[in-house]
Amino acid sequence: MYYNWKETTNTEELKIVCNLIRNGELVIFPTETVYGIGANALDEKAVGKIFIAKGRPSDNPLIVHLADKNQIKEVAQNITEVEQKLIDAFMPGPFTLILERKSIIPDIVTAGLDTVAIRIPDNVIARGILTYSGVPIAAPSANLSGKPSGTSVEDIRKELEGKVSAIVDGGETDIGLESTVVKVIHEVPLILRPGKITPEQIEKVAGIVRLDSNIFEEIQQNQKIESPGMKYKHYAPETKCRVICFEDELDQLFYMKRAIKEYRGDVVVLGFTEHKEKIYVSENRYIDIGSKDHLEEVAQKLYTSLRKADALKPQIILIEGVKQEGLGIAIMNRLLRTCSYDCIKENTIKI
Ligand code: TXA
Ligand code: MG
Repeated sequence: MYYNWKETTNTEELKIVCNLIRNGELVIFPTETVYGIGANALDEKAVGKIFIAKGRPSDNPLIVHLADKNQIKEVAQNITEVEQKLIDAFMPGPFTLILERKSIIPDIVTAGLDTVAIRIPDNVIARGILTYSGVPIAAPSANLSGKPSGTSVEDIRKELEGKVSAIVDGGETDIGLESTVVKVIHEVPLILRPGKITPEQIEKVAGIVRLDSNIFEEIQQNQKIESPGMKYKHYAPETKCRVICFEDELDQLFYMKRAIKEYRGDVVVLGFTEHKEKIYVSENRYIDIGSKDHLEEVAQKLYTSLRKADALKPQIILIEGVKQEGLGIAIMNRLLRTCSYDCIKENTIKI
């Protein structure tokens, strides 16, 4: 069933949706980051359906979503001082914390790890569903495994309809990128996946922060990884993509023009608002991803823009990169994976 709650949550329908969750069915619902495809986290069979619907490898664990902080102690234990500080500062919000798991959480959710990822979303619809269903909800991003996450129902309806019992439409998600994932190791927060909550914000709370080395780098074979999700292909359209990052605007425009020529115009550009008049491609081949000085906008539009570009089936999608600072860290982390690390930078140009 499709439920339109773009304007307001319908309480009768909310009861239906929560019953579906309690009865072991799958429901797609919005959060402030991206859409999730959720099931009762305590019901092994229900969680199994998520992996099938997404085509997700079974060794990639899921995030457990909770209605409020009091529930954390029901699913996790031995919470340290630093972990508690992070919980107090960033939950509810676009933040996921890896904690020591309690055995109430089935193995299938954590892929057998002794930790569990916890998140309390800050979105009226998500919190409504979590509160009234009364159970923790395991939910990965709503998309087929490997594809960009869903930030609107239009984007994911085709690929997931028929695989779930309900789709709750809350309109476009606010943030557009998945939550920041953090694990505290020896009292130091390690960012496993960057997001809206930035390293600076975490440092302010914990006094120290580290970024996992895999955030901007390709995983090497046999490398030790903290988060199983890191080793899988991610956020990738069917079309080949390239990200272009010159600090100097003229170099950036020059490279763009050269690449467009090389592909005889059979490209789609994901470019900044400021460059719309400066990069010449036919009008429907320029997708405006927002202002280069407004990274919130770029993040919010990114996945929808990638899907739009892919639908046009060009030879290549050329994407303007952003500075790797603040929210730009999360944007570049996703873009590098989208492009399988095909990234043109200052020192790599061959003119
Ligand atoms: O914003 C979000 O986090 C969205 C919304 C729906 O909440 N969810 C989301 O879930 O992005 P998913 O499954 O697409 O990404 C979860 C990431 C994966 O990379 C997974 O490997 C990692 O979190 N993860 C989950 N449990 C973990 C654990 N115990 N240890 C390390 N990494 C874990
Ligand atoms: Mg995902």
